[in-house]
Amino acid sequence: MGSKQVQRSVPQPGPAANDAIERTQAAGMQIRSLSAWYGTTPAIRDISLDIVPRRVTAIIGPSGCGKSTLIRCLNRMHEVAGGRVEGRVLLDGEDIYAPDVDPVQVRRLIGMVFQKPNPFPMMSVYDNVVAGIKLTGGLGKHALDEIVERSLIAAALWDEVKGKLKQSGALLSGGQQQRLCIARALAMEPQVLLMDEPCSALDPIATYKIEELIEELKEDYTIVIVTHNMQQASRVSDYTAFLLSGEDRVGELVEYDETKQLFTNPKDKRTEDYITGRFG
Ligand SMILES: Nc1ncnc2c1ncn2[C@@H]1O[C@H](COP(=O)(O)OP(=O)(O)OP(=O)(O)O)[C@@H](O)[C@H]1O
Ligand SMILES: [Mg+2]
Repeated sequence: MGSKQVQRSVPQPGPAANDAIERTQAAGMQIRSLSAWYGTTPAIRDISLDIVPRRVTAIIGPSGCGKSTLIRCLNRMHEVAGGRVEGRVLLDGEDIYAPDVDPVQVRRLIGMVFQKPNPFPMMSVYDNVVAGIKLTGGLGKHALDEIVERSLIAAALWDEVKGKLKQSGALLSGGQQQRLCIARALAMEPQVLLMDEPCSALDPIATYKIEELIEELKEDYTIVIVTHNMQQASRVSDYTAFLLSGEDRVGELVEYDETKQLFTNPKDKRTEDYITGRFG
C-alpha cells in the first residue's frame, strides 16, 4: 500500500510460463489496455493480459460479457464487421494494429476456428484444407498434397479422411468438420490458434477428441479458447481469464491466473461466485 505511483498492473503468468523450452514458431501475445466498440457502443474495456506461448489460455464468463469480441480483436476480425478497437495487441512484441501491418497477414499468423464448423460446402476435403493457401498461390500439386496430409495429421483427421479427400467437406460428421476447420487453419502455419467455443455444437465424444487435439497442438502452437464449459476450461487450459460485464454491459477482466489457481483459489469474490455457479 506504500507506493503512490500510479502503475498499470498487467497480470503476469505464473511460474509455469518459465518451464517452456523456447522454440521459435509459436508466439506469445500481449494485450494492453484493449477496448472495443460496436458503432458507438462499448463491448469490452481496458483489458490487459499476456498470452503465454505454447500454452492454452481459456476465456470464460457469462453470455454477453465480451469473450467473442475479445478473441476477435486478437486477429483483427473485430474490424471486419465495422468494429472499433483502442489499445494494443502485440504478437511477440509486434503491434498487430500498427498502420503498416496487413490484416490478412495477421489472420494468417493468428488463425481462428469458430463455434459452428464452417467448411466450404461446395469444396472437397482436400480443397477445404488448402483454401487459404491457394489464395496466396504459387504452390504446385506436390507441395499442396504434402500440406494437406501434414495439416490433416496435425488435426487428428488424416486416418478418417485419407480415403475420401475428394468428397465434399460437408459430408463429414460435425466433429470431423470442426477438425477439418482446424486443419484449414493449421495449413497456414499460424503461430497462434484462436478458438471461439469450438465444441459447443459437438457431442461429448467429438468434444473429447477436440480436447485431446488441443492438448497435442499446444506443443507447437499458442492456443486461446473461449468456452462456456467450466469443466472444459479446467481440463484443457493452463491459464484462465474471467470476464464480466457490470450494469453498463461492458466486459472487463476480473481475474487472470493459472487455471488451477483460478478454479481452486480465486482472488476475486466475483470469480468465486461464477465458478461455483452462483450467477451467469
Ligand atoms: N455484431 C454486433 N453488433 C452489435 N453489438 C454486438 C455485436 N456482437 C456482439 N455485440 C454486443 O457486444 C457485447 C459482447 O458480445 P460478445 O459476443 O463478445 O459476448 P460473448 O461473451 O461472446 O457472449 P456469448 O457467450 O453469448 O457468446 C454484447 O453486449 C453483445 O450484444
Ligand atoms: Mg461468444
